[in-house]
Amino acid sequence: MRGMNGKYPKGPSHRLAPRMQHIQPFHVMDLLARARALEAAGREIIQLQIGEPDFPTPEPVRERAARVLQQDPIHYTPALGLPVLRAAIARHYAEAEGVEVAPERIVVTPGSSAGLQLVLAALVGRDDNVLMGDPGYPCNSNFVHLFEGRVIAVPTRPEDGFQPTPALLEQHADAGARVLLLASPANPTGSVLGEAALRALIDWAESRGIVVVMDEIYRGLFHGSDRPPTALTCSDELFVVNSFSKYYGMTGWRVGWVVAPEWAVEPLDRLAQNMYLSAPTLAQQAALAAFEPETLEILEQRRAEFTRRRDFLLPKLEALGFRIPVVPDGAFYLYADCSRFSRDSSRFVLDLLEQAGVAITPGRDFGTHRADTFVRFACTRPVPVLKKAVECIAEHLANPGR
Ligand SMILES: Cc1ncc(COP(=O)(O)O)c(C=O)c1O
Repeated sequence: MRGMNGKYPKGPSHRLAPRMQHIQPFHVMDLLARARALEAAGREIIQLQIGEPDFPTPEPVRERAARVLQQDPIHYTPALGLPVLRAAIARHYAEAEGVEVAPERIVVTPGSSAGLQLVLAALVGRDDNVLMGDPGYPCNSNFVHLFEGRVIAVPTRPEDGFQPTPALLEQHADAGARVLLLASPANPTGSVLGEAALRALIDWAESRGIVVVMDEIYRGLFHGSDRPPTALTCSDELFVVNSFSKYYGMTGWRVGWVVAPEWAVEPLDRLAQNMYLSAPTLAQQAALAAFEPETLEILEQRRAEFTRRRDFLLPKLEALGFRIPVVPDGAFYLYADCSRFSRDSSRFVLDLLEQAGVAITPGRDFGTHRADTFVRFACTRPVPVLKKAVECIAEHLANPGR
């Protein structure tokens, strides 16, 4: 239990497994705790640090859940998921993405977090190397440590959209490399891999016997009219991890999925049976309504709203003096260089919270490469709130030591 000062008491660390030394907390959680304390003390805080859409779960999904709750005994489902949901996800790939995926290859998981753990548990052994871009989603390296693998963080460049390239991977990979973790759209940059870049990365990995695990959790959230390609258009031998959390507005329901190569379904089934038995039954039932036309209509309006927010906030931040080297093509983040104001983004973020009442995430939550000069803004508040945030930040930057 956290003490009154928001810190956990220190325990006897020798009782913990050695791997626990490598498991990092989200630094932004301390910031969240501080933001809540300031709010409790009566301050108005604009929270742009949370990677969660501010919209409620769409009504048709909630209605379906309410109906099911009345009628269904809510027992476990098969470990691989409700067969009707696996079929619905396969249909979605065929209809929305133009890719044929057999329902048997779809594994429903408790969020993509469990999907990533399931896949990495199946692929990563002690001292196996896992390649991933830096900056990237922070949990990935912790998952690798959980399975006693080694992380090879590949520093990426703005000119490549902060995505790994075959040339960068070639520089960093060694003979022990077993897995390449990719994400598109990515967190924290919102950058999207185009078809040629995606294909080149997959070809590079597959020609070296390295298995690709592709995180497509932000997939529905692209800006503009061209849906970016799913990695499934390039290969059937990779793992795609996806979720109902972000595009479908179902973060708290904890339901996602993995598309696995045929040979991997049985091992994933075995692991899922042992690790969590099944994803939450009510959430799986509710997710069936996520693909209905009336839900998709709501979700598409929200996607357009995220684009409006990006288009509002990006030029405003640049006018203040932030540099945003990669214009995001997806997700709802802006990864901004704050070096004009500070070379210690963690300190900068704390000052911004205390003095301007705006909470954002420091770069060190996403890795070490250029982390001290970058911060992430999540466009998870409506435009009038973003406008207020910009005014507060402008005032703070004009009087930093206030
Ligand atoms: C890139 C990425 N992958 C995976 C996740 C995990 O999401 P969930 O477990 O809700 O599907 C997140 C959450 O923020 C994320 O940003």
